[in-house]
Amino acid sequence: MTLFDVYPINDISIIKAKGSYVWDDKGNEYLDMYGGHAVISIGHTHPYWVKKIEEQLEQIAFYSNSIKIPIQQKLADKLGEVSGRKDYQLFLCNSGAEANENALKLASFYNGRKKIISFSKAFHGRTSLAVAATDNASIVAPVNETDNVNFLPFNDENALQDYFDKHRDEVSSVIIEGIQGVGGINVATVSFLKLIRNLCNKYNAVFIADSVQCGYGRTGKFYSHDYAGVDADIYTMAKGMGNGFPVAGISIAPHIHSKHFMLGTTFGGNHLACAAALAVLEVMHKENLMNNANEVGNYLMNEIKRITELKNLRGKGLMIGFDVTPELKDLKKNLLLKHHIFTGEAKPNVIRLLPSLALTKDDADKFLNALREEVSILSKNYVTMGVS
Ligand SMILES: Cc1ncc(COP(=O)(O)O)c(C=O)c1O
Repeated sequence: MTLFDVYPINDISIIKAKGSYVWDDKGNEYLDMYGGHAVISIGHTHPYWVKKIEEQLEQIAFYSNSIKIPIQQKLADKLGEVSGRKDYQLFLCNSGAEANENALKLASFYNGRKKIISFSKAFHGRTSLAVAATDNASIVAPVNETDNVNFLPFNDENALQDYFDKHRDEVSSVIIEGIQGVGGINVATVSFLKLIRNLCNKYNAVFIADSVQCGYGRTGKFYSHDYAGVDADIYTMAKGMGNGFPVAGISIAPHIHSKHFMLGTTFGGNHLACAAALAVLEVMHKENLMNNANEVGNYLMNEIKRITELKNLRGKGLMIGFDVTPELKDLKKNLLLKHHIFTGEAKPNVIRLLPSLALTKDDADKFLNALREEVSILSKNYVTMGVS
């Protein structure tokens, strides 16, 4: 049997990881500025997280949601505390797409409507509704196509206002990433998020804050939408939630009421996933990692800003992106192969930084030194090639 070949992969096999570093099967050490795709929040194999998962594994790994699972409530309490939303309700599932799927569905149950507003360059996952709300026709199968989803230009307040003026009570939900990840690190403006809040209030539509990539402390606040000073009705979360253990959830405002069987999943909220997710929040709190993301993120931004060959620097905390001009097209590859540093990308020309929230200033310096060196070499080579 072969693997279904859907991922273009680097020819590297990672077999060990600790903090912000990973090692391949040949013993090479790599600095992980990619966080395994924004998943590593508290650092690879954090000892407390390992211990808590091991302890849970010795007790019980899984039983169905037909019995009491007290660790789910412990997780909900801690999430309420760390996210500053103690009065919200938690539904647990397994992936980012599933979180968004449930959020969109719950919004529709709540107000009985069908229309969903999404935005240009949005990415919300690959399941049926989540992919329909994703602005990438190449991953939408014919069976996923629906007229219920309408794409508006990102950060365009007039377009949003116009749409609500026309469709008023037909809008079920508005789904938006606080900072678009796959779309290339595009930050939603404060006034745009405030307008979404106002219009959702006015028309009883549901504001869904996709925090799968930009949430869980990555930007220096628990949800990146918090920078706008407004509350969403539903927050979706996944990646950083388990620090690599698959777990996801939606945090639901108190005015949205539950009914038995309206949502459900076999694996969601299992004992082991909850132990991993609880450990993540405890570490995040104890080690003040949101603060660290803010500080080290600001340091990185300030230093990268000085590298004038890199364009359109943007982001918040440890969710950073910049554009790479054609002469620097090998930058990402060279950072990996020459300097052993993983970074992320967004097509066609964006480098994305999504490291662990525990990244130190020394790690940041290591990255910056490599970045400066490589930008300088590539720029010189390009000029030389042009002249000869
Ligand atoms: C903003 C956002 N939403 C949803 C998803 C989908 O998450 P998953 O791959 O866990 O289904 C992603 C994944 O990259 C994402 O970045």
